[in-house]
Amino acid sequence: MHPDDGHERGADDEPGGSGGPEDYREVLELARRSAAEWLAGLGERPIPARATPEEVRSALGEALPDVGEPPAAVIERLAGAIEPGLLAIGSPRFYGWVMGGTQPTALAADWLVSAWDQNAGLRDITPGVAAAEELAGEWIVDLLGLPSGSAVGFATGATMAQFAAMAAGRDEVLRRVGWDPAVSGLAGGPRVRFVVGAERHGTVDLAGRYLGLGEPTAVPADDQGRIRVDRLEEVLAAGEGPALVVLQAGNIHSGAFDDFSGAVAVAHAAGAWVHVDGAFGLWAAASPRSAHLTAGLAGADSWSTDAHKTLNVPYDCGVAIVREPSAMFRALSMQASYLQATGTGADPHEKVAELSRRARGVPTWAVLRSLGRQGVADLVHRLTGSARAIADGLAELPGVEVLNDVVFTQVCVALGDDATTAALSERLWGDGDVLAMTSRWRDRTVVRFSVSNWRTDAAQAARTVAAVERALAAGASPA
Ligand SMILES: Cc1ncc(COP(=O)(O)O)c(C=O)c1O
Repeated sequence: MHPDDGHERGADDEPGGSGGPEDYREVLELARRSAAEWLAGLGERPIPARATPEEVRSALGEALPDVGEPPAAVIERLAGAIEPGLLAIGSPRFYGWVMGGTQPTALAADWLVSAWDQNAGLRDITPGVAAAEELAGEWIVDLLGLPSGSAVGFATGATMAQFAAMAAGRDEVLRRVGWDPAVSGLAGGPRVRFVVGAERHGTVDLAGRYLGLGEPTAVPADDQGRIRVDRLEEVLAAGEGPALVVLQAGNIHSGAFDDFSGAVAVAHAAGAWVHVDGAFGLWAAASPRSAHLTAGLAGADSWSTDAHKTLNVPYDCGVAIVREPSAMFRALSMQASYLQATGTGADPHEKVAELSRRARGVPTWAVLRSLGRQGVADLVHRLTGSARAIADGLAELPGVEVLNDVVFTQVCVALGDDATTAALSERLWGDGDVLAMTSRWRDRTVVRFSVSNWRTDAAQAARTVAAVERALAAGASPA
């Protein structure tokens, strides 16, 4: 309903509301109804947004009103104006980038987090959410087979989780050579060698840049994008001094995992701190059927992942994990006399680069509680199985080449030439039933199917293959 179309103004409809608890009732009911409609349509609606940002700006009303609107009218305007500009990321046939959907328990928990509006930085001050986040962190460490007692922080995403864990690593390797960056800064100190695989995610470089590490040294990768351990050894042997090595669990093109046993041994022999970027792939460790991909993972010093990818909690939730808690606290902790901080490393703010933040780990607690160990394993197995089913189905279609070994949740395909491959993605976009985006991998334009949604099962995989077949028949066939 448009705000001007019959919305009845009541006594509480003063701009900004009356200030009483009843203000919440109507707006929350409107929001709930609108959310329910959106969620009910997710599986069938066309996936791409229908409106441009300019159209949405205009529908929202571009001029700041001199006098505010009643709360219910604002929520109705918001829901009505934004809906055409929404991308159906939660569709079970959304394969763009690496984006998960939202499991119901996680969404409900997230709504409570907003209603409670806790500032989750201090353990003893907001003990309710701190306790839930602590348990979620301990359960993640357990599920992923990481060292018990590791410190866990909840960040906005894998980028900032990486940043937090790599900050711990940078400071630790510098302290080992007698330089404390918390006291002396970085200028004039020993240079930290920042070593990564050639196919690391771009956010690894970004986190390194935030941390003053400069451009990384890239070690060549094999045909699936895994770091070459022999070349890592050579690179580390060619230099000296403190080093931070970043490995990868889950390549965004191939889904491949680095050889952790080999790479960690080589890096530790050179005295390096080893961080693993496992934004989506770390969860392979939670299923007995894919855990072999992560052999040796627990030997690293720190790890980062997202709960908003494979685990399907709502944005935003990244997870930073550090084996030696004191390294994390020393890098990220702060003190202020007015804060009732424990100062013991137990406060949530000592594990991420934020003081005030929402209790974003709580939906993760809810999902883990509702799935249990078996449910998480099943989820990971379902995603992997659906990726394999999509790859097998696509490989049967004329001219379609599956380029990667489908070991986890990523499928990369190409047609005869780059232009024809790009045309496939465009036709899928136009059709709207499946969304898969282009990328460049190994000097070719590819279309990536990143299977990340908890509802993508065998039936959705079959419907996906049918949509690609339709796109090929409509003209995106090999040149
Ligand atoms: C392997 C990998 N690392 C890091 C990231 C960054 O994650 P976020 O966007 O949650 O910060 C991504 C995102 O897709 C990723 O796939």
